[in-house]
Amino acid sequence: MQVENPRKTDNSVASPVPRLPAQTGLPGALVSAIYHDTGFVAQTLLGQGESGQVILASEPATGEWRALKIFPRNKQPAFDKEVRALQRLSRSPHVVHMIRFLDFSKTRERNESDFGYIIMEVGRGNLLQLCGSRMLNEREARFLFLQMAEGVCAAHRSGFCHHDVKLENFVVGGEDGLVKLIDFGAALDLAVDLVNSPHPDERLVDASYVAGSPAYSSQQVLLGLPRSPEKTDIYGLGVSLYRLLCGHYPYCVPESDSLETLIRNVSRDNLEFPCALSEEARSLLRGMLAKREEDRLGWHTLARHPWIKKK
Ligand SMILES: Nc1ncnc2c1ncn2[C@@H]1O[C@H](COP(=O)(O)OP(=O)(O)OP(=O)(O)O)[C@@H](O)[C@H]1O
Ligand SMILES: [Mg+2]
Repeated sequence: MQVENPRKTDNSVASPVPRLPAQTGLPGALVSAIYHDTGFVAQTLLGQGESGQVILASEPATGEWRALKIFPRNKQPAFDKEVRALQRLSRSPHVVHMIRFLDFSKTRERNESDFGYIIMEVGRGNLLQLCGSRMLNEREARFLFLQMAEGVCAAHRSGFCHHDVKLENFVVGGEDGLVKLIDFGAALDLAVDLVNSPHPDERLVDASYVAGSPAYSSQQVLLGLPRSPEKTDIYGLGVSLYRLLCGHYPYCVPESDSLETLIRNVSRDNLEFPCALSEEARSLLRGMLAKREEDRLGWHTLARHPWIKKK
């Protein structure tokens, strides 16, 4: 996958003169708040999600492009979670690099702002945007998947369950052109946010914790059952890989299917594959998408799977 550096394609943003709000397509009040709070000149919307907006912006002093994730005050818990996770994880090559953050109470010009900001390296787009419903060949899919898995595994090694693993939460690009995991707004801190399981030495995500995206959620998440943090994220990775290889989701068409339909499909054993898909790929997908957590692949078995080892 060819990754362009946006700085090379549009030099105009390096200008020290803030652009006029009308040219950005963003509301003038938002552009102005961003400028006063951060000193960055907002350029365009990169993405919009549950937590707020992600905006491409340049820093007049340096001409650097950055992605600014902007959280309104009612999303402060997600902001705090994401900052905490990125502080611990930003050194991983497959997790987005947080340059700095500005708290609601410590922005550039104000002690009290309506927004909190996470300032990150900027990617070229998320994997769903970049791959669409194209069916990648297995070599292309493996190239992306190994980097995605490394990002999620790095989160687990640092003590976080991401809990919203999906193609939209990986960007390609940044300074080095690698695939990077983003969006830790739903992440759980394994040392504090889990509950005890009936098995000694095991900690689980509480049944009442609701987060993530239905199309990528395991049966345990959809049915509101206690679940293993590791196996929950591995299931999201499995749905992501299925979508890269097959061009659609395994159990639903998100725009048209109801949650009830999804739950019904997920509970049935009806994974279908394109004829051309190799036996190794099918076996890996079946292992990652296994309904029962005890049957689902963990990191150790995943790393040794023949599809992963293929050149
Ligand atoms: N560093 C970045 N570089 C480029 N694009 C980004 C970056 N961070 C986020 N985006 C874009 O913005 C979108 C939304 O970002 P993010 O997932 O962090 O927000 P969110 O509000 O938590 O989203 P959701 O609730 O939908 O998961 C991403 O899917 C991606 O397309
Ligand atoms: Mg997201």
